[in-house]
Amino acid sequence: MNWVASQTADDKLLQQELCASGKMPQHVAIIMDGNGRWAEERSLTRTQGHREGINSVRDIVESASLLGIKHLTLYAFSMENWRRPRMEVTVLMDLLLHYLRSELDELHKNNVRLQAIGKINALPKNVQKQLFECMETMKNNTGLTLTLALSYSARWDIVRAVQMASLDVRRGKLSPEDITEERFATYLQTHATPDPDLLVRTSGEMRLSNFLLWELAYSELYVTDKNWPDFRRNDLYEAIANYLGRERRFGKTSQQIIDEKSDAPESNSLKRILNAFRS
Ligand code: IPE
Ligand code: IPE
Ligand code: MG
Repeated sequence: MNWVASQTADDKLLQQELCASGKMPQHVAIIMDGNGRWAEERSLTRTQGHREGINSVRDIVESASLLGIKHLTLYAFSMENWRRPRMEVTVLMDLLLHYLRSELDELHKNNVRLQAIGKINALPKNVQKQLFECMETMKNNTGLTLTLALSYSARWDIVRAVQMASLDVRRGKLSPEDITEERFATYLQTHATPDPDLLVRTSGEMRLSNFLLWELAYSELYVTDKNWPDFRRNDLYEAIANYLGRERRFGKTSQQIIDEKSDAPESNSLKRILNAFRS
């Protein structure tokens, strides 16, 4: 399916309103949480919750791509998630394998590039194989870059980066005085992706759960009570509209930000869309 061709007129309009702000986030990262609670509320099994969660993944990937967002990072499985019951881990790995198999063509046709971060060699061999095949097929695509965080832990990635930088010091390729924030970040798995502008977490939990600890230093945070299987494109638009209304100060005063912006035209459509979501 071609996403552009199948987009509804209403959806196109909403997207245009958001994009008219000219301040769209380049990178949105999402902690997809609450599949289990979604299922429990409906007396379904956790497996059914995870399965429905995949429908949200499809909708969010498609809508992010249509919006022209450059980077979408989805926290799909944390290193800590290996501690879950074996049966649940097996189900999650099977669903991941199935998702990669069934979506490859559609993602590729829609110009999506796939990346993965995390301890990928901890995944079952068949998942690794499918993942590498998908990444290889899509590697030259120029649309949305979709990064899946799999068996991911931010602390693990930071420690790994320290180890690699230390090795370079030992080999004489790097001197400790040259380790700046920028240089250090080149050792992280996320080095090729800008830091997230917006972090969304579903299911109301107010924590980072070991996700992108370095990269989220100045991201805007948005937490919604909706569980992940209920989070669909209009919820993403609402999160983005909320983000567009934020003042990102990066340590400066509000007045400084206003002065810097004074030549930039104020967007009426942004006000309109924020009002539409509030009403
Ligand atoms: C998110 O939903 C999916 C993963 C972490 C893999 P959960 O499975 O964590 O759902 P809750 O938090 O138990 O409701
Ligand atoms: C975070 O969700 C990890 C993913 C969404 C993959 P969890 O459900 O594992 O987080 P905690 O353990 O409640 O913090
Ligand atoms: Mg959870």
